[in-house]
Amino acid sequence: MGFDWGVASGDPSGDSIIIWTRISPPAEGGPVHVSYVVSTADEPDRHGKVTTWSDLDWTVKAEVKGLSVGKIYTYAFSCPGASPVSGQTWIPLRDQTKLQLLIANCSQLRGGAKEPNAYSALGTAGCTPDLVVSIGDYIYDTDNAIALSEQNVAYYRGLYANFRSKSQVQKAHAYGPWLAVWDDHDIKDECFSGGVSTCWPPHWGDVKAAALQAFYEWMPMRVPPSGRLEDGWRVLEFGPLATLVMVETRLSARTKQIDEGDQTDWLKYRHDHSVLIGDRQFAEIAAALQNPNPRWRIIANEVIIADRPDPPQQNDDTWSGYPGAREKLLRLLGDCPAYPIVFSGDLHTAWSANLPHPDIPGVFSALEFGAPPISSDTSGTRWPSMQWQSDLNGYLLATFTMEQLTVEFRQMDAAPPFSSPPSPAMAYTLRPGETVPKGG
Ligand SMILES: [Fe+2]
Repeated sequence: MGFDWGVASGDPSGDSIIIWTRISPPAEGGPVHVSYVVSTADEPDRHGKVTTWSDLDWTVKAEVKGLSVGKIYTYAFSCPGASPVSGQTWIPLRDQTKLQLLIANCSQLRGGAKEPNAYSALGTAGCTPDLVVSIGDYIYDTDNAIALSEQNVAYYRGLYANFRSKSQVQKAHAYGPWLAVWDDHDIKDECFSGGVSTCWPPHWGDVKAAALQAFYEWMPMRVPPSGRLEDGWRVLEFGPLATLVMVETRLSARTKQIDEGDQTDWLKYRHDHSVLIGDRQFAEIAAALQNPNPRWRIIANEVIIADRPDPPQQNDDTWSGYPGAREKLLRLLGDCPAYPIVFSGDLHTAWSANLPHPDIPGVFSALEFGAPPISSDTSGTRWPSMQWQSDLNGYLLATFTMEQLTVEFRQMDAAPPFSSPPSPAMAYTLRPGETVPKGG
């Protein structure tokens, strides 16, 4: 037996955090009892025990409560017959005066031709964020071309096991806490709440349930309070400094993508009826954003909001393909004091944009920054709505203080020869109320 998939921690809530590991399946069957200890310099050790078995895919999760903000904790798992494994975690913020986020997305390995090299930066000089925010396409359903009907829980567990066997990914999870949500490739390319862009497969509910079961088994994330696995959104408060909202736009309420022949009539219908975020989630986000206290309102969001240059197309997966939903969100963001800061992914390139208010010409609702893919092939997508764009693999590092925001795009190649340390590709320093300048 061994803890061959490393450790992970995340989903901070108040003074508690989730810690995670996995034990290899024992030859004699289960269950297996795994012990853990959580330590820091001047507090008594916290001990616990978790039982796991095949129904949990031998994953081990525990909620650790009563942690102090600003302290770094070491956690270690042990089990007779296996070498112990450990990581570090904390409650963000570690330093009350600044919040640093690493935004990650899109880590396709293309059958082994690519490596998630960008994750190996975590914990090195200049890359010590409070929180890694993973906004989707962590695993990819397309590396193995199998029928949708065969995408069962064993299939998804296999994708996570393969990805988590990578040393760079293990290092990134052992470094510190994560907050994660899925996008389409964590379930099925171009999926929506009721199926996949072009169809409503009869067994879609089973596919969705299998993907979500594996997600919650393998990621250091809690099952939502509603009990609905699809409700993956989160609101995190960071005192007077920031409110962070991580939205869920894929499985909980998204309506079907455009695929009708008559685009004109369909767009009119789509404008009135399109949904990416359901009413319950929208109400929670609106309440969080209306809190007048924080200096920064941060939205972690899966797919791009900035305008695409052409009319919405077949199977358009972005916010532009859902014009009614997009306007509703931009109106909400436009009503906030200062500019909310949106971090998006999915596009396989790095970019920045100012998002125009839907009702007031010349006024902006929010600023948007697109995180580069960790390892997926870059797409070359460049739209007039972007202030800057560059094709690179890497990550986005955002640092919020009461005075300013710094957004850094950092390049780390996903194929040999690997670039190390990360090279800066672009950086913005903005005060509240400033917009993104053109060019770069
Ligand atoms: Fe992707």
